[in-house]
Amino acid sequence: MAEPLIAPSILSADFARLGAEIAAVAQAGTARADWVHVDVMDAHFVPNLTLGLPVVQSLLKVADIPLDCHLMIEDPDRWAIGYAEAGAYNVTVHAEAAKDPVKLAKDLRAAGAKAGLSIKPGTPLEPWLDALKHYDTLLVMSVEPGFGGQSFIADVLEKVRTARRLVDTGQLKLVVEIDGGINADTIEQAAEAGVDCFVAGSAVYGADDPGQAVAALRAQAAR
Ligand code: DX5
Ligand code: ZN
Repeated sequence: MAEPLIAPSILSADFARLGAEIAAVAQAGTARADWVHVDVMDAHFVPNLTLGLPVVQSLLKVADIPLDCHLMIEDPDRWAIGYAEAGAYNVTVHAEAAKDPVKLAKDLRAAGAKAGLSIKPGTPLEPWLDALKHYDTLLVMSVEPGFGGQSFIADVLEKVRTARRLVDTGQLKLVVEIDGGINADTIEQAAEAGVDCFVAGSAVYGADDPGQAVAALRAQAAR
């Protein structure tokens, strides 16, 4: 099994010092994050507002870790491409919001990004299996999107297991990513279910030493 990927979410970081907060998880060794997760919220698709393309463009200039942009926005068919063109490594849109997810994935890839599709906790996986053939990442939400620091919803691990099986049997080629409530108490069950990439916001940026928190989560996630 591949090495786990750890993606700290800057939603729980200090927004006045985002460059330094990313640098804090960019040290060498196991404390180095694999991706930095950037939560874009528009106060329409979710009841919260964070940051958008201008901030991501600035972060791309200073971050030497791939940016994983999670777009919790309406009309991603219109807006997601800008993040890919700006140089985000992975751009994830929500299945519930996308009008033409296959075209969207093709456009994101054509712009040089990996394409990600996310499903909320109550959204089933099956209707999206065909579209997922065009994607690189499946982001399974393990909290309702909108806020950090919520409790992990273990029921979603059934979808992770299904996705893992489809990837392991070669029917899909995806990084299986989980987002929400991942911490020292929950990461092992997620790893066990077959997650490849673990997003952690409060567990990393709520810790005294974010780099140390990344290293600890990485050790726990190793399967
Ligand atoms: C929530 C965001 C998450 C959030 C996770 O809608 O998508 O990425 O930062 O935060 P924690 O890890 O604290 O649940
Ligand atoms: Zn997220």
